[in-house]
Amino acid sequence: MPRILLTGATGLIGGAVLHRALEGGDDATWVCLVRCAGVEQGRQRIAARLSRFTDAFTAQRLARKVEVVPGDFTRADIDRDPRLDDCTHVLHLAADTSWWGDERVYRTNHDGTLALARRARAMPDLQRFLHVGTAMICGADADEFVAEDDYPAADARHMVAYTVSKAATETSLAEHFPDLPVVVARPSIVVGHASLGAGPSSSILWVLRAADALRMLPCAPESHVDVVPADWVAETLIGLLTKPTLAHDLYHLSAGARGRTTWAEVIAAFEAAEPSDGRRAFRQFDLVADRAVLRRRFAEVFGLDGSLKQAMLRAVRAYYAFCALDVTFANDRLLAEGFAPAPTLPAYLPVCLANGATIVEQFADDIEMFAVPPPAPEARAAGDALAASA
Ligand SMILES: NC(=O)c1ccc[n+]([C@@H]2O[C@H](COP(=O)([O-])OP(=O)(O)OC[C@H]3O[C@@H](n4cnc5c(N)ncnc54)[C@H](OP(=O)(O)O)[C@@H]3O)[C@@H](O)[C@H]2O)c1
Repeated sequence: MPRILLTGATGLIGGAVLHRALEGGDDATWVCLVRCAGVEQGRQRIAARLSRFTDAFTAQRLARKVEVVPGDFTRADIDRDPRLDDCTHVLHLAADTSWWGDERVYRTNHDGTLALARRARAMPDLQRFLHVGTAMICGADADEFVAEDDYPAADARHMVAYTVSKAATETSLAEHFPDLPVVVARPSIVVGHASLGAGPSSSILWVLRAADALRMLPCAPESHVDVVPADWVAETLIGLLTKPTLAHDLYHLSAGARGRTTWAEVIAAFEAAEPSDGRRAFRQFDLVADRAVLRRRFAEVFGLDGSLKQAMLRAVRAYYAFCALDVTFANDRLLAEGFAPAPTLPAYLPVCLANGATIVEQFADDIEMFAVPPPAPEARAAGDALAASA
């Protein structure tokens, strides 16, 4: 029987994976490495995440099915917990997904993953170590179509520290752990859930809604976005984890050429879902030259009162930069393995828009990604010394 070590069970995709696996009644044992003070607290954290996918009673019932190992994956190499020893598979989802965390993000994602890989060396029955990266390691100068082997590339121009850390992790795993059965899965942009809409998470969905409310695009309406829903990502990850043989050790989990969506199609989907707003007239703008225009428009639509909305404007700018990339990630490898293509965004956007929260409330649910980390202790001490001498 598979015994699967899962990191990131309390996150968006981890919750979707557990929901899918446990509801489906698979015969695997799921061992969840969770940051918590004790097993019961960890179980409650998992149940809280699962309750975004199902009712509270079922979430509790499902959470009882997993083995909880309290711990931090970044210290897994010194974690001698024997429950980890006989794992046959690792699904490594945990990551610091905040965009502006720099050194802390690198330490967690790069150094932490290598610590987990060292721990995996002490799992004698290990069959697969599925590391989840991100297709966005392509950076800002990628071609319109990106194939798996095009990246990581040393000369990629990254827009955020998060993708630097994810690219370096892949490089180091390949360099230092050729003895491990590592497979890398790189989702593109995960938005919503194909049947539960924004219930499990409104992460990134609020960006599409904000663009619609602002009626501003930093690119032509014919340019594309490569978006996939969390439930499809979960199902595909479980498939990649447990399929006995795979032709490759690196896969995009993406919409690909057939499933990608143009901005014009996104706009049409908004018009169909919310017809009372009529036909949308979008303005194409330049992210740099029209910075002030975006700020004025944002203030008109959302207001700029308070730190939440100011953080939201910064996040909108950052996401618009990604939206303008017009990049599509090849999914031929995945389809050739027999996995189903992802549902297209216009097909499931209506269900995402049916959930009631406001755009600002949905952004607030995503705020951890945009938190500016506190200064490191040395920097704080230097700042204090300066303040004292002033
Ligand atoms: N969502 C996307 O659009 C997307 C796209 C491409 C790739 N990905 C990748 O998919 C993976 C999962 O993403 P997600 O959106 O589900 O992330 P998420 O919602 O931000 O969840 C992150 C998870 O990592 C855990 N974690 C972070 N640091 C940890 C540590 N030191 N020890 C133990 N657990 C730790 C968190 O635990 P706590 O609850 O304790 O904080 C949480 O469970 C990530 O590797 C991400 O890079 C995501």
